[in-house]
Amino acid sequence: MAIDTTRDMTFDEFDEHDNPPPAVTDFDRLAEGALSRRRFLAGGVGFGAAAFVMGTTALTPAPTQAQSRLGFEAVSANGLDTVTLPDGYRWHIVARWGDPLWSDAPEFDQESRGTGTSQETAFGDNNDGMSLFAHRGRTILAANNEYVNRSIIYGNRASKLPETADDVRKGKAGHGVSVVEITRRDGRWGIVQDSPYNRRITADTPMMITGPARGHELMKTVADPDGTTCLGTWNNCGNGRTPWGTYLACEENFNGYFSSSDPTLERTADQKRYGVKLKDWGYAWATADERFDIAKHPNEPNRAGYIVEIDPLDPTSIPKKRTALGRFKHENAEVVLAADGRVVVYMGDDERGEFLYRFVSRDAYVAGGDNADLLETGALYVAKFADDGSGEWVELTPAATGMSSLVEICVRTRQAASAVGATTMDRPEWVAANPNKVEAYCCLTNNKNRAKKSNAGGDPTPVNGPNPREANTYGQIVRWRPSAGDHGANRFAWDLFVVAGNPTVHSDARRGSPNITADNMFNSPDGLAFDAAGMMWIQTDGKYSNEGDFVGQGNNQMLIADPDTGEIRRFMVGPRECEITGITFSPDRRTVFVGIQHPGEKGDSHFPDGGQTVPRSAVIAIEREDDSLVA
Ligand code: FEO
Ligand code: CA
Ligand code: CA
Ligand code: CA
Repeated sequence: MAIDTTRDMTFDEFDEHDNPPPAVTDFDRLAEGALSRRRFLAGGVGFGAAAFVMGTTALTPAPTQAQSRLGFEAVSANGLDTVTLPDGYRWHIVARWGDPLWSDAPEFDQESRGTGTSQETAFGDNNDGMSLFAHRGRTILAANNEYVNRSIIYGNRASKLPETADDVRKGKAGHGVSVVEITRRDGRWGIVQDSPYNRRITADTPMMITGPARGHELMKTVADPDGTTCLGTWNNCGNGRTPWGTYLACEENFNGYFSSSDPTLERTADQKRYGVKLKDWGYAWATADERFDIAKHPNEPNRAGYIVEIDPLDPTSIPKKRTALGRFKHENAEVVLAADGRVVVYMGDDERGEFLYRFVSRDAYVAGGDNADLLETGALYVAKFADDGSGEWVELTPAATGMSSLVEICVRTRQAASAVGATTMDRPEWVAANPNKVEAYCCLTNNKNRAKKSNAGGDPTPVNGPNPREANTYGQIVRWRPSAGDHGANRFAWDLFVVAGNPTVHSDARRGSPNITADNMFNSPDGLAFDAAGMMWIQTDGKYSNEGDFVGQGNNQMLIADPDTGEIRRFMVGPRECEITGITFSPDRRTVFVGIQHPGEKGDSHFPDGGQTVPRSAVIAIEREDDSLVA
């Protein structure tokens, strides 16, 4: 019966299932105290905490429309079941869920929605983060396939759920990463079938465990008594790309795939912190693959929740799980270099009240050198933001956390961060670094629990500097500038680049920061990336009801921002019930590739093929009609 209640939940609801709101006592008083203090600090500005941040410590001058560097006409919000772009731009489909990567594989079957075999040879579902790799005149696209929509991929079943072992195989193959060569023919990008680079990585692909946790007791299982190898990657959300040409897939909501054959099993504290439950999220993987049964294989969840490094140019390479970068619900991995050449990776943990992290490699990147294992050894830090606009990266060491070893920190990273009093955040999604300045940005997508409820570890989540609104509906983007212009520095200054809101509905802090207007408003910023010109692209994964708090905001959308002026302009609106996520640019800057994820997740879309077809997640290409630069 519990399966019936959890299977229709979103990942967010699933995570909260065993973390009910606390009784209203000390916690509320603590939160109220923080709010009052913020209002005092806000002075007479009348905009609550956000005004304090924007008004007195802002790193950006007020937006000026006069000298806009955004060379397009804003598009209006809408609820159409298509992609809307500014005048002078066009789009086309590059790859859809179920498109075969080899010529002897079947085309997508609208009735069955594929089989285990067909899905293993086809583009995966729900494409998310992605990167392009140019190699010897060829173009290779690596794209995450975050998850599958049960009601769509199993729409051929009356239950809309997996009913056979092959259904489970199909679901596992819909997940992972698709590596596919693409080319531009007759003005359209598309898949190169039978390319030697084409590869499907799924929930069953052999992987290597690297870094501090490799070989540790916590990683050992019956199938892998050495704790050095594991099978598969799943729920890869945002991504990363290294300067040495590898692809980073980021395991996010890995927990919802495990279940217990023993209904009386007492879960460990670690399983509770990471949301591993006795019932899965509805994919039934344990019914066909015993390793997802935590009653029989309690260490299996310890082998998921990592950054996975993949060589996209070698289809025979074994992906490497990088335990040094910590275990949590990884969003993306933004890779930059410190002043001394060490590799810095910024990473968010996307759950309400969780944290923002930074990894710094031990060794420096050497152009043209052997950089293959730079992500194997280094230090992990978590962010602490102070209300005065300063902040610091706190290194997670045994001494600082009270944990027994670096291994434990790499596996129980959330608990380590809680132990040092890191700042609880409003669901950190993508981090993006400005290529022209030493600064980085992170989308804090929303957090209905802010100042209402603790995180899954029991840390209180009072309103704080970068998370200034209780029950945060709309989200915000925080920015930090490392000290001395060095991403390797342990201190930084921060401000809020934008506080999203709806100025047509609200006149308090929910209206948003001054760079939000009725014409560019949005909710729930998620995907984030810079183009070569230094403009910042913002993708949303928000409410698309177009009603109430969200009236006038339409479908999920993509906007472009000028980081120097704070100006934000809506560039694209997606089809119905989709999220816009994943972005990468062609080397000649004439094409931007964008992900349309889960159109019709609730049944109201036939994107991209129209008529009565099954809605399919897709990668699209956007170009200018005159073929000039898009970015
Ligand atoms: Fe998969 Fe945090 O988005
Ligand atoms: Ca996301
Ligand atoms: Ca999201
Ligand atoms: Ca998503």
